[in-house]
Amino acid sequence: MRIGILGVGTVGASVANILKDNKDIITARAGVELEPVIGLVNNLNKERNVSIKLTTDVDEILNDESIDIIVELMGGIEKPYEVVKKALEKGKAVVTANKALLAYHRYELQDLAGDTPFEYEAAVAGGIPIINALRDGLTANHIESIRGIMNGTCNYMLTKMINEGVDYHTILAEAQELGYAEADPTFDVGGFDAAHKLLILGSIAYGIDAKPEDILIEGIENIAPADIDFASEFNYSIKLLTIAKKVGTKIELRVHPVLISNDEMIAKVDGVMNGVSVIGDKVGETMYYGPGAGGDATASAVIANIVDIARRGKGSPMLGFESSHGENLTLMPKEE
Ligand code: NDP
Ligand code: HSE
Repeated sequence: MRIGILGVGTVGASVANILKDNKDIITARAGVELEPVIGLVNNLNKERNVSIKLTTDVDEILNDESIDIIVELMGGIEKPYEVVKKALEKGKAVVTANKALLAYHRYELQDLAGDTPFEYEAAVAGGIPIINALRDGLTANHIESIRGIMNGTCNYMLTKMINEGVDYHTILAEAQELGYAEADPTFDVGGFDAAHKLLILGSIAYGIDAKPEDILIEGIENIAPADIDFASEFNYSIKLLTIAKKVGTKIELRVHPVLISNDEMIAKVDGVMNGVSVIGDKVGETMYYGPGAGGDATASAVIANIVDIARRGKGSPMLGFESSHGENLTLMPKEE
């Protein structure tokens, strides 16, 4: 199968390189060779460590009938929305890690995809296969709650601020340098990126069709060194938590910093790691832990989707953002 990668930055370059580095096992597991043939970039003169052909012309990729799978790793909303729509209309399978795009257009794109695979495992919690867990592993359960650390940048920053006293701006610059942060890091520190992920999980777990504007979002920008000292004095950590909770027939969705006792498992999720607790009515509590950002970790989840598409063939979609969810739940207004 031939793959076009839209965006050859932190994640896109890792996708191209891992498909090459681990070609033997990936081919064996997919049952077919997966070849990244072309990548879209803004700037052809930028130095980058990849060996695929590059173009600045998206139509060169979309109009190439020999390309089976489009991997969208550009970031932003409007441009990827336009190109993902075009790719799906042309019957090409799409894999994206773009949670901002999904936060606004997930149901519409899933409907448009119809029988064409449209996958997004890497959009939530980086390398942790949390979407797979919710869609497949926990499918026998009513999901009672999802609670977790789902932004690697904020967790990296808070960990360094708490453990090493590094100041906010220095550590944000470091997270950007490491490729963890969004192109506009306000999405990370403002809590919006975590909210985008929460909305995706809220759709999968509960069938909730909401936008970021509909839920409570507070980031870490106002956390002062004094707050951190105060928390530490009482053996607490400050974490940016992403919370979905079922309350009767209502679903509460919110993102905000929380004081957590250092004895709790989630307080031990440090650095760029993410940790997600999901409680199902039958299974009880399950925990997922792993790198929440970074090129290779995210590419691992992107490639899992690509391999899955290759295995299933292009005409057999997995359960996604379905309008018929099996439960009749509504979003709790944020002021409740
Ligand atoms: P980068 O900014 O590193 O890479 C973006 C790439 O897209 C660059 O190659 C850029 O070109 C190209 N690009 C952007 N806009 C255009 C355009 N209009 N036309 C042509 N090329 C364009 O982003 P990341 O790799 O970090 O992230 C990609 C996506 O993955 C985002 O949606 C992000 O939210 C998501 N994601 C990122 C994670 C991470 O850890 N970084 C983790 C999980 C998801 P050029 O190089 O020339 O500038
Ligand atoms: N900027 C995001 C984060 C990337 O830091 O978690 C992974 O989604």
